[in-house]
Amino acid sequence: MFSLPIVDHEVFERYAGLSLPRHVSYPMPTWWHDVDPHEATSIREESLQQVPQRDLSIYLHIPFCEALCKFCACNKTIMRKTAKNADENVSSYVKALLQEMSWRASTLGAGRCVRQIHWGGGTPTYLSCQLIQEIHNTLASLFDIHCDAEISIEVDPRVTSSEQLQLLRHLGFNRISLGVQDFDERVQKHIHRVQPYELVKQCVETCRESGFESLNFDLIYGLPYQTVETVADMVDKSISLSPDRVAFYHYAQIPDKIATQRGIHHQQMPDSKNKLAMFLLAVERFQSAGYEFIGLDHFAKADETLAQAARQGTINRNFQGMTTGVDLDLIGIGASSISQFVRFGYLQNHREPQTYVDRIQQTLEPAIRGIRLNEDDCLRQTVINHLYCYAEICPKRIEALFDIVFDEYFATELEQLEQLQNDGLVNITSDNRIQLTFPLGRVLMRNVAAIFDAYINRDAYRFGEKHAFSTNA
Ligand SMILES: C[S@@+](CC[C@H](N)C(=O)[O-])C[C@H]1O[C@@H](n2cnc3c(N)ncnc32)[C@H](O)[C@@H]1O
Ligand code: SF4
Repeated sequence: MFSLPIVDHEVFERYAGLSLPRHVSYPMPTWWHDVDPHEATSIREESLQQVPQRDLSIYLHIPFCEALCKFCACNKTIMRKTAKNADENVSSYVKALLQEMSWRASTLGAGRCVRQIHWGGGTPTYLSCQLIQEIHNTLASLFDIHCDAEISIEVDPRVTSSEQLQLLRHLGFNRISLGVQDFDERVQKHIHRVQPYELVKQCVETCRESGFESLNFDLIYGLPYQTVETVADMVDKSISLSPDRVAFYHYAQIPDKIATQRGIHHQQMPDSKNKLAMFLLAVERFQSAGYEFIGLDHFAKADETLAQAARQGTINRNFQGMTTGVDLDLIGIGASSISQFVRFGYLQNHREPQTYVDRIQQTLEPAIRGIRLNEDDCLRQTVINHLYCYAEICPKRIEALFDIVFDEYFATELEQLEQLQNDGLVNITSDNRIQLTFPLGRVLMRNVAAIFDAYINRDAYRFGEKHAFSTNA
């Protein structure tokens, strides 16, 4: 039995039933439009003119995986590997990646310091040591990487060798994220992701011996055949391996978009009441073990940089999840990757790896979608971001950043919030801060954020499940 906070289930079901975005961008990609090469270039150039010296974050997308996990909603390409074909299969993609890197360095890199680098996928450790080294060295030769830069990579423990881990550390990677998902054998079998606890433990030990400063686990709840008991076990096993950060994702089931999820049926999945219990027990257990609960679905040890940044008000949220460092332009390189220019706009490369390669080979612009932000977008983006990062909106803080009177600008939204206040999702403090309650407000954070999303409200648009999950993919 678990002793969990009391939740009004009638209220919870009323709000949880709506399918809403997680706001990893604002506006959500659904509202972006097709951009021609001229517009893509001008978005980059004008953002650069706005703040030429802004520091950078770089995201590299490596889409390859050796085998398919049935639940996966990331942008990946499955390529079985033999010792012979491994590098050959990916060489044209790697060449295109290096080419795009050099284009971006020449237009956006000059005099700008890179504070963060993140390799995501797919599975970046699909690549051989030789290719990993070539990509990293090229990046380091093209950009000015800060000596304290956070350099991170997503790895699948099943396919990552100790040789690769040692090389990554040697190259300067200091953060590593392990896709764990779940430890339960029955769940693992069903999602085609068999990965015993011992294998993860071994990978964690090698990461620690290699000297990575920070280790993250990706866990998922809501998967088929999970129960509150199996999730409790998954959380306890995770805590026993002491990751510095944990991303505790809600399983996004979007079968109309991800064909492999069609084999996962609703009857096999936990219902919303059980998922709520899973989530609350994770919060309780991670907090008891010394982790801080951050944002929608992250945990970090109190002395970890993410928890420190949350306390100092310097946390951010983007397509890679929660990050430290607020004012960085993000340059996305690779198929489907997204670039984010602070208070300016977004651009996204073609999703399909072969088309991306073809475009680069033909010296064509790889970005095909994007948006320029107007002033209202920038303001709402900040408000929504504060809510996800700090679980509150402080009108004074917003007024210090934008030339508005909060109560006047958001008069309609504040009126709508009254219902959520009556239902116990938010508290308004004596100095007018809008704070999410725990547990109800925190678990229904997306419903509160949706009030401030002009695109949802303007067209009374209800997001379908297909929009509810987004990665940099
Ligand atoms: C690119 S993968 C991580 C690296 C590596 N490919 C692996 O699986 O270990 C990114 C993460 O997205 C999460 N993810 C993928 N599909 C998801 C889904 N349908 N719902 C929730 N999270 C999902 C998983 O936790 C996964 O670890
Ligand atoms: S979860 Fe990771 S390894 Fe599995 S298919 Fe998705 S990206 Fe590939």
